Amino acid sequence: MTRYQLVFPKTNNNHKGTSSETEEDHEAISLNLFKSDSSSCSISSGNDGTASALWGSSVVLSKYIIMMNDDYYYHDNVDQERNDKHNNYKNKNKNNKNMDIDIIDNIQFQGKTIMELGCGGSAVPSLLSSCYLGAKRVIATDFHSLTLDHVQYHVTMNPCTNTNNNNNDDLRPPPSPPPIIETYKIDWEDTDNQNILIDTYDLNQSDIILAADVIYDTTLVQPLVNTISRMLSRCRDSRVIIAMKNGRTGISEFRTLMTKEYFTEIRSIDVFDNSSFLPPIPIILENDIIARGRYYGNFTIHIYQWKESKITFD
Ligand SMILES: C[S@@+](CC[C@H](N)C(=O)[O-])C[C@H]1O[C@@H](n2cnc3c(N)ncnc32)[C@H](O)[C@@H]1O
Repeated sequence: MTRYQLVFPKTNNNHKGTSSETEEDHEAISLNLFKSDSSSCSISSGNDGTASALWGSSVVLSKYIIMMNDDYYYHDNVDQERNDKHNNYKNKNKNNKNMDIDIIDNIQFQGKTIMELGCGGSAVPSLLSSCYLGAKRVIATDFHSLTLDHVQYHVTMNPCTNTNNNNNDDLRPPPSPPPIIETYKIDWEDTDNQNILIDTYDLNQSDIILAADVIYDTTLVQPLVNTISRMLSRCRDSRVIIAMKNGRTGISEFRTLMTKEYFTEIRSIDVFDNSSFLPPIPIILENDIIARGRYYGNFTIHIYQWKESKITFD
């Protein structure tokens, strides 16, 4: 097992290699992760080999949710100079031709319940939601137990927090002692088990569902859409933010099924590989041809809300 850091710098012009020590780096968000060594069976991946890796979609999704929540992230900072730098950063990035920063949405994570589907072992969006974005409850799910062990290991490597004080009468407390990030084995094709978990742990009232690179097989599209709607069945104002690598099998089927009955697609945002949007690839991944292939690419982020949601979207 090899440890590395995934760093989300405030400005991100450096596309390759670890970021250099600049003034901007002092305000970077950084996560500690581990990389599986193929020789080590104790941290080998789940059944299909996709679970333990870090995929570019999850990095793109993570960067997007950081940008959505930057006011929260920098909120504690009353230092005027730092605030000015932050505003400069925002203005500077308005000219980023590779991504229209004006369509960074205002979906705040502070105090919210976040669920990630198909989180994989890295679960980067879940880690960020817990460590940096002020989520009240973070629920990471996948269908491999070993993958969920990896998530819990990553929790120990990072400054995760749980602001869930269980004052909400409507929410039964998670198992005692409350885990910082709750992990559940949720298989999109196993409705019975999903219903048991929903009844036991109130899993169907998330404010935000996150998913990265979970569409690559048409047979899984309908079960995934059903799982999303089931997991949001008690929260009609929730959002689904999903990042996918362009060209994956099943994407058009997913978009059609999502909007057929339940949801409205409120955003579709292209993020191209030639942009400076992806944070620098950690050097340890850059040197690994397979890891590099998983990291780079062209991606799209889609955002959905219930058709009957009361939220109006600007
Ligand atoms: C390409 S990986 C993406 C992992 C992670 N989201 C990321 O971007 O780094 C796809 C993930 O979907 C999960 N997955 C695939 N089929 C699933 C199913 N039927 N139910 C739940 N999770 C599933 C896999 O275990 C794997 O973690």
